[in-house]
Amino acid sequence: VLDSKDLKIKNVTDQSTGQQLSYSLGDKLEVFGSRLEIRLPTTNGNKLNISIEYDTSPEASAFQWLTADQTAGKRQPYLFSQCQAIHCRSFVPCQDTPSVKFPYTAKITAPKEITLLMSAISTGSETDSSDSTKSIYRFEQKVPIPSYLIAIVGGDLESRDIGPRSKVWSEKEFVDAAAFEFSETETMLKTAEDLCGPYVWGRYDLLVLPPSFPYGGMENPCLTFVTPTLLAGDKSLADVVAHEISHSWTGNLVTNKNPEHFWLNEGHTVFVERKIKGRMYGEPYRQISAAERWIELQQSVVDVLKNGPYTKLIPDLRGVDPDDAFSIVPYEKGFTLLYHLETILGGPDEFEPFLKAYIEKFKYKSIDSTQWKDFLFSFFQSKVDVLNKVDWDTWFSAVGMPPIKPEYDESLAVPCQELCDKWSASSDSDLSQFSAKDITMLTSNQIRIFLYKVLLLESPLSLIKVKKMEELYKFNDRKNSEIRLKWLLLCLKVHWEDSIQYALKFVNEQGRMKFVRPIYRNSSFPIITNVLYFCKFSKRRVYQT
Ligand code: BES
Ligand code: ZN
Repeated sequence: VLDSKDLKIKNVTDQSTGQQLSYSLGDKLEVFGSRLEIRLPTTNGNKLNISIEYDTSPEASAFQWLTADQTAGKRQPYLFSQCQAIHCRSFVPCQDTPSVKFPYTAKITAPKEITLLMSAISTGSETDSSDSTKSIYRFEQKVPIPSYLIAIVGGDLESRDIGPRSKVWSEKEFVDAAAFEFSETETMLKTAEDLCGPYVWGRYDLLVLPPSFPYGGMENPCLTFVTPTLLAGDKSLADVVAHEISHSWTGNLVTNKNPEHFWLNEGHTVFVERKIKGRMYGEPYRQISAAERWIELQQSVVDVLKNGPYTKLIPDLRGVDPDDAFSIVPYEKGFTLLYHLETILGGPDEFEPFLKAYIEKFKYKSIDSTQWKDFLFSFFQSKVDVLNKVDWDTWFSAVGMPPIKPEYDESLAVPCQELCDKWSASSDSDLSQFSAKDITMLTSNQIRIFLYKVLLLESPLSLIKVKKMEELYKFNDRKNSEIRLKWLLLCLKVHWEDSIQYALKFVNEQGRMKFVRPIYRNSSFPIITNVLYFCKFSKRRVYQT
């Protein structure tokens, strides 16, 4: 029994005998697709080799097909996939669950002008001998992977070397900016290897996608996919690369058994990501990242998810579309649990060896939270009394915020808080104390934190002050999308009508869920929600006003 969705099955063949096998396709369920049931011949214990001939649908949820006009260069059409969580079934008939792992090879034919890449090692390309307008590409992924890590991209792509095992790929318009932005990739890989063990995937390439790519990054093996919104020229969004690199161990080697244990993938990955950042940029950087995201977790858990069932670390997802349950919870509640454990178990010197041993123990496997916890207890045999004091039931199964709030060092946010306080305390009629110089010493990350603090003020700033901020700090001209998002939310909050055009521009020029959702869902100006849109993950359509 295989998963399939919108696939037109043409025939199923037993390769060793050439015999056609009978099959049936079940009723189509929304989101989950149809079960493809194949009747197998008797095998006498031998392995079977079965081929399935099929067509995918233009509506396949794994793909975005862009016309040449929808690309930066407008020269060639573009195709990319996004299989996580359960879209692989619209690409290949398969056991579309992370509990099953397999290696893969692929042979792909494409028009000559198109460069093709997959989440695998390239094993060569040649002109199609039967049609000289086409090329044939071959790939091999030797490491067993779950189906959600199959990925493909085709377009007018170029590459630049950025390290001994890394290239960055994109349309030629972005390739130099990308090489600059991701120049720290090799250092991050080495830091990750030091924390997690050897990198088993051979290459670590990056692909910068067109702006409609719905995520910040996707950890497709050998070829991480990233949004072009990272190309702000300030390297402040290298966080995403640290995150996707970390998945090379937590997620891609040790994999959650099903989406209910997604925190094993994302919580551990955020934990490793912050370890990398701590080692490369200093511990305060790790601390402030954690502090900032705690506030976002709180907003999401309380205001958006209303302490509902998806705020559990291990939610019940039977019959649920994993894309609907997606939130910050597995990331940050998961991170908080690991950070808390690190603290009570004696700090990094004690906890980092656990992380490495956990990866070594479960690499190439798919596991659930009980297996993780059992291993934790066996690793820290001498500290079982500490572990027994942890309220596991609440951490794993209770709704709401984590039961414990760690103390984070917020020293990097001090200047942000001070500037925020100054704006909050000043009077509308005297803003002469502010000048463009206020923010010249702040990093992009600190500017973002400043804006976030202003946004969260209990009594919001006046429209006069926000206009003054624009006059002095010129936030509308910023390229960094994290800054733009926070700035736009602030402008909308104070009902600055001129900002609507900037908000519309922002959601129309890129499709990263993290940035478009909060604008669409903004309640300050419901008109934005009305004028726009139909937006559903990888199938995104925007109607321009
Ligand atoms: N694997 C996720 C993206 C994902 C999750 C796609 C679930 C589909 C379903 C990826 O590693 C991720 O977490 N991306 C984040 C970046 C980040 C730095 C936390 C994103 O896209 O925002
Ligand atoms: Zn992730």
